[in-house]
Amino acid sequence: MSTFVSDLFAGKTALVTGGTSGIGQATAEYLARHGAHVVAIGLGADRTAVSDGVELDLREVDVTDDKALKAVIADLDRLDILVPAAGISLGDREIEWEAFNTVLSIQLNAVYRITDLAHPLLAASQGSVINIASMYSFFGGGRRVAYSAAKGAVVQITKSLAEAWAPDGIRVNAVAPGWINTPLLATIEDQAVVDRLLSRTPLNRFGDPEEIGKAIAFLASDAASFITGVVLPVDGGYLTTGI
Ligand SMILES: NC(=O)c1ccc[n+]([C@@H]2O[C@H](COP(=O)([O-])OP(=O)(O)OC[C@H]3O[C@@H](n4cnc5c(N)ncnc54)[C@H](O)[C@@H]3O)[C@@H](O)[C@H]2O)c1
Repeated sequence: MSTFVSDLFAGKTALVTGGTSGIGQATAEYLARHGAHVVAIGLGADRTAVSDGVELDLREVDVTDDKALKAVIADLDRLDILVPAAGISLGDREIEWEAFNTVLSIQLNAVYRITDLAHPLLAASQGSVINIASMYSFFGGGRRVAYSAAKGAVVQITKSLAEAWAPDGIRVNAVAPGWINTPLLATIEDQAVVDRLLSRTPLNRFGDPEEIGKAIAFLASDAASFITGVVLPVDGGYLTTGI
């Protein structure tokens, strides 16, 4: 049984970037299972295995393609929930200028761009944005220089737009996932690192992508009507421990 009523988002439209995998897909499916019409954009859309009984409007869109983003927005009749979840990390290489720019173009510029383009629709619906921050929003990443720069900036965009768009009735929040079982997490190949991450997580496991979707659903719902500008860690307690 679900925590939320199944028609929580009936009549609402959600747009999820990175909706073809991992956290974005799980969020898209969670919103769809609770009544939203969900447009899920990302790469590899034709390979995305959507769960039985869930309907997603999946589209192949590169978030760094401005024309394509404009077309996605132009195609929407309404927009109530925006979740810009598309992301990559290039690990050690991010310290190099080209890789730094590549990561920033997806994890920061595209996040701002889709949000900027969605502003009129969100104002019309009094909708909300839920950004995806990270543990790297709170600490640096010597091996993920661009990723941590982008995730730090996502927090500031969240707070700044929460203030800027409050007069329009738009709420802007973020979730900060801890270590979540997705293909992105699988890029950590060093078992010693995996063990260290787990031992620092009081709940002693990696999160499930749907556990991020649930927190996003809460922030998007009317239950969060007085919440804006927050960054909610969903991390099994990771941020509470010093070692
Ligand atoms: N997995 C974790 O532990 C974790 C923790 C904190 C934050 N995050 C963040 O969550 C978000 C989703 O990550 P994930 O773990 O689900 O990864 P994932 O690799 O499973 O999914 C990434 C998604 O982004 C899309 N994407 C990548 N480049 C794109 C582009 N140029 N245009 C369009 N779509 C593009 C992919 O198609 C895919 O749908 C990212 O912002 C990531 O930084 C993940």
